[in-house]
Amino acid sequence: VTVPARVIRVGGRDPYPVTIGWGISGPEAPGHLRHLLDGAAEVAVVYPGSLTAAAERLAAAVRGAHAPRLHLLAVPDGEAAKEVAVAAGLWARLAGLRLSRADVIVGCGGGATTDLAGFVAGTWLRGVRLVQVPTTLLGMVDAAIGAKTAVNLAAGKNLVGVIHAPAGVLCDLAHLSSLPAAERASGLAEVAKCGFIADPDLLDLLEDPEPHLEELVVRSVAVKARVVAVDLREAGPRETLNYGHTLGHAIERVEGYTWRHGAAISVGMVYAARLAGRVTGLPAAEQERHPRLLHRLGLPVSYRADAWPAVLEAMRADKKARAGTLRFVLLRRIGNPHVVPVDEPLLAATYADVCR
Ligand SMILES: NC(=O)c1ccc[n+]([C@@H]2O[C@H](COP(=O)([O-])OP(=O)(O)OC[C@H]3O[C@@H](n4cnc5c(N)ncnc54)[C@H](O)[C@@H]3O)[C@@H](O)[C@H]2O)c1
Repeated sequence: VTVPARVIRVGGRDPYPVTIGWGISGPEAPGHLRHLLDGAAEVAVVYPGSLTAAAERLAAAVRGAHAPRLHLLAVPDGEAAKEVAVAAGLWARLAGLRLSRADVIVGCGGGATTDLAGFVAGTWLRGVRLVQVPTTLLGMVDAAIGAKTAVNLAAGKNLVGVIHAPAGVLCDLAHLSSLPAAERASGLAEVAKCGFIADPDLLDLLEDPEPHLEELVVRSVAVKARVVAVDLREAGPRETLNYGHTLGHAIERVEGYTWRHGAAISVGMVYAARLAGRVTGLPAAEQERHPRLLHRLGLPVSYRADAWPAVLEAMRADKKARAGTLRFVLLRRIGNPHVVPVDEPLLAATYADVCR
């Protein structure tokens, strides 16, 4: 059976394909998954219990005569999976399965699940083959591509991890039909980010996202693929992917991680646009496009006025701050990002622009 799919190649030291299409992780198009599992005897699928149906679709795709043995390893839902104890539990299960270097770990779920599965695949036997099957929009356009993996500590999010490229990523758009509206909006914020930093046409498609889901994912993956291929770790161009993230991460911290990531970076992008108006001369109409579009997508565009001291402290504590001065990804025009240090008085003055 052929189901039309689009493939974006992520280059760099360990290149891999990201395949995007409808039904490509299920029995209606088993070839994609089977190809990525080729040669394996054991396959461990890491998935949250809430996505049992998605894991069973994977299993149905690989069933058959010469198929590898598939082991479904359920983990806690969402962020609760990104714990050292959960990773340790998986290592113990993999030892029991005698999962070898020729075998494969599949991550099937949102970004939290694919981060955990990637971390375990990158550390088990110092690294085994990894296939990612993201089931959230955020996972498809961001978390499951780019090879970064991590778990959280009490001291902070994503503090322990490894860079471990997958052998392939299957973005099965069929998964998006069950995604709750807030999760969808969170992913659309990352899509908008890709549009603002690199692909203005994406912003036009976002005016009416539903009919354009495939194109939105394809273009967003292409933006991230272009950047990470030349810059695996983050010192150079990859920093532009942090557009909206300096304030966004701070809001997530101040809110004790109860906000969705995309909601926080939505406010962060509006703030960055207002800063850019003052620092890099981003035209007023392009600044305005930020809150207008993001609000239409169901995302917040403002934050609490009284939170500034806490927000500033959280921005200063962010691991990406360098040598005391806060650095921001700012646009000169839409599609033209630069990393710029900004003084604190200007940061404080601009905060008023995103207060409700
Ligand atoms: N490694 C990276 O480069 C990178 C980049 C961005 C984000 N991340 C990480 O990704 C995580 C956020 O990802 P996320 O927003 O996907 O969160 P998530 O994995 O917590 O998923 C959000 C919720 O949606 C549910 N869900 C997943 N797929 C579903 C589906 N198809 N239908 C219905 N419900 C579904 C999940 O069970 C969960 O409750 C964070 O841990 C973040 O640190 C990593």
